[in-house]
Amino acid sequence: MSQHILIVDDDHATLRLIELGLRSEGFELTTVPSATEALRVLSEREVRVVLTDLNMPGMSGVELCNQVAMAHPDVPVLVITAFGSMESAISAMRSGAFDFVTKPFEIEALALAVRRAVKHHELRAEVRRLRLAVGAGEPTHDLIGMSPTMAEVRSLLTRVAMSDATVLVTGETGTGKEVAARAIHACSKRSSSPFVAVNCAALPEALLEAELVGHVRGAFTDARVSRTGLLVSASGGTLFLDEIGDLPLGLQPKLLRIVEQRQVRPIGSNTEVPFDTRIIAATHRDLESAIEDGLFREDLYYRLNVLTVAMPPLRSRGGDVLLLGQHFVRQAARAASKAVQGISGSAAAALLNYPWPGNVRELRNAVERAVALTTYDSISLDDLPDKIRGYQSRHVIVAGDDLSELVPLEEVEKRYILRVLEAAGGNKSVAAQKLGVNRKTLYRKLAAYGVVDA
Ligand SMILES: Nc1ncnc2c1ncn2[C@@H]1O[C@H](COP(=O)(O)OP(=O)(O)OP(=O)(O)O)[C@@H](O)[C@H]1O
Ligand SMILES: [Mg+2]
Repeated sequence: MSQHILIVDDDHATLRLIELGLRSEGFELTTVPSATEALRVLSEREVRVVLTDLNMPGMSGVELCNQVAMAHPDVPVLVITAFGSMESAISAMRSGAFDFVTKPFEIEALALAVRRAVKHHELRAEVRRLRLAVGAGEPTHDLIGMSPTMAEVRSLLTRVAMSDATVLVTGETGTGKEVAARAIHACSKRSSSPFVAVNCAALPEALLEAELVGHVRGAFTDARVSRTGLLVSASGGTLFLDEIGDLPLGLQPKLLRIVEQRQVRPIGSNTEVPFDTRIIAATHRDLESAIEDGLFREDLYYRLNVLTVAMPPLRSRGGDVLLLGQHFVRQAARAASKAVQGISGSAAAALLNYPWPGNVRELRNAVERAVALTTYDSISLDDLPDKIRGYQSRHVIVAGDDLSELVPLEEVEKRYILRVLEAAGGNKSVAAQKLGVNRKTLYRKLAAYGVVDA
């Protein structure tokens, strides 16, 4: 298939520079000097990705994004924006741009962004094909995000929704595991039946069991009437077992049996009641470590983990931080009846720079707070929490030769270990594997750094 890239820029020199660079990276290209010309090319031939400047005489890059989104919704548009003009990048994203690259850029970075956009194009085509195949509507509209990472998640959720198998949703805290579970339900054939959520960490063992399987009258002191358990009452629909990693050990073999046999025996009863409920479980815990530590049963893990959806951390979603940020600004402004409309350039840069250990939830809280505090019509750097405003990335290797900046080997080791742990989403088994040390060694080192277990 052709990998044709359309490049739009009124500046001849820049156009030529990008052309030479991307050609050497193996892309086929057409270059045009204006947005109007770009629309003509789009109507005449198949284009994979559009790469456009924002500031152009005549039709602007933002307007081009709008037009392409309407007339060629499957063609991703990458915009090139000058550093410091985040506002225009945001308005381009709101007009349907897929991602943006800031000037000055390295040609490799640009090529990488283009490749991601090509991949996105392919996924979009695939999702549409699947959707046509099952006649499903837009299932994942509540999941905001247009990054390639989120495009993959969406495509996966659509496929998972077509199956009726048990699903395990994993991901760090605040990554949207519940949102994902609801999306799966909403586009599954069970969508007109209930979605019921239970938090396995919130109830003591006995109550949780009663809640799930139900009980007959007189089964225990307080059981004055019999009650149907959630597994049965959610029949036809989906039961969301949240925080499954915290399911008490005593209940684990019972749940395993229930999931295998698709029937429950209410407490105090002798008869089994069949149910037809799809189970989606979620956890922020590293279940494989929990299994090693004897806290989670391996057989139950395999039984639940038929299909896996791993929600990516927010720090791997690029410009989605700003899309989500804008969404939360609008929501918070509406709720507080304030006229706050956006995010200032410097605040946007800080949001993009911060690693978001608390993910989407942390972002939502930070934005809500900022909207409450701000006296301007867009949230500014000063409205953000200190932690985000003052965040400095910890570079493992110092690039310069300045002796005063160079650090002891031990410090490099520490920074590197923390870096790998962060990249592994806090998963110590994965981090230990990547580092080539055993888990005990990693634990010992982390303890020595004063990193306490979550
Ligand atoms: N892609 C998204 N688009 C819009 N809102 C999102 C998205 N992801 C998460 N949110 C919002 O962020 C918050 C956290 O999401 P959610 O509760 O699904 O996370 P979680 O992974 O279940 O977190 P935890 O592990 O702490 O339970 C919610 O308010 C949710 O609506
Ligand atoms: Mg949750």
